[in-house]
Amino acid sequence: MAEATAKALFDAAEAARAAVDADAKMALTEQAAALWRAASELEDGPLRAEALADPGAPAKPELVDPRRVAKRNPGSGSGRAAHLHALTHIEFVATNLAWDAVVRFRGMPLAYYQQWAQVALEEAEHFTALRARLRDAGADYGDFAAHNGLWDMAARTADDPLARMMMVPRYLEARALEAAPIMQAKFRQAGDEASAALIARIAKEEIGHVAAGSRWFGHLCQSRGQDRREAFVTLLDGFARGRPKGPFELDIRRQAGFTEWELAWLEQGG
Ligand SMILES: [Fe+2]
Ligand SMILES: [Fe+2]
Repeated sequence: MAEATAKALFDAAEAARAAVDADAKMALTEQAAALWRAASELEDGPLRAEALADPGAPAKPELVDPRRVAKRNPGSGSGRAAHLHALTHIEFVATNLAWDAVVRFRGMPLAYYQQWAQVALEEAEHFTALRARLRDAGADYGDFAAHNGLWDMAARTADDPLARMMMVPRYLEARALEAAPIMQAKFRQAGDEASAALIARIAKEEIGHVAAGSRWFGHLCQSRGQDRREAFVTLLDGFARGRPKGPFELDIRRQAGFTEWELAWLEQGG
């Protein structure tokens, strides 16, 4: 088989990004990721951000203000299903976010696209595994309302890959790494050992997603001749509501590509 052209590669990524049905999106994600993995060269012109429609998502879950999302104590009857639903939804949005990073930001090196295609594949796998736990709890994806905080940040960083890499993987996903042990403990206390184990496994892979953000954040700073420290501080100040609050898991953040300078800045509360 001849190697896929740049157009075929980006079309496959867009098909996965645009898919409305969750099962279709996951199947198209596998296909597109396989195409990207097999690619050995890419000629894609200058660095640019494409104007795109929002990624595809099913009519349900209904997206609401975060304060209206059902309370999620895994220890209470329907609380476990509601909590699993929230996690499943995050992985659905994360699949869209990874493909969005591919289709929107053009003119990057092939390795950038291959890494984000691999992230998309992992997010899709997390979605499917969490959805199975959700079904085990007697519910399914779409049964609860959800909020769209992750996508809101993506929309705000749609014109700049440097801002996207900083604010989605290195800010929002990095915060989720720190929340994972607490979530695991809640499921364990509720007697749901299988969900606790799944959350632990997913959290390990998420370190790699944040590391991908760090890698391409560094790459873009360097290729633009922009000071990395200044970009880090300016973007956090501009996009985050207040400075990130600790406690920070320093070893995990080191594995995820945070520099000692960045960690010291976070630890000082900015
Ligand atoms: Fe994930
Ligand atoms: Fe992720």
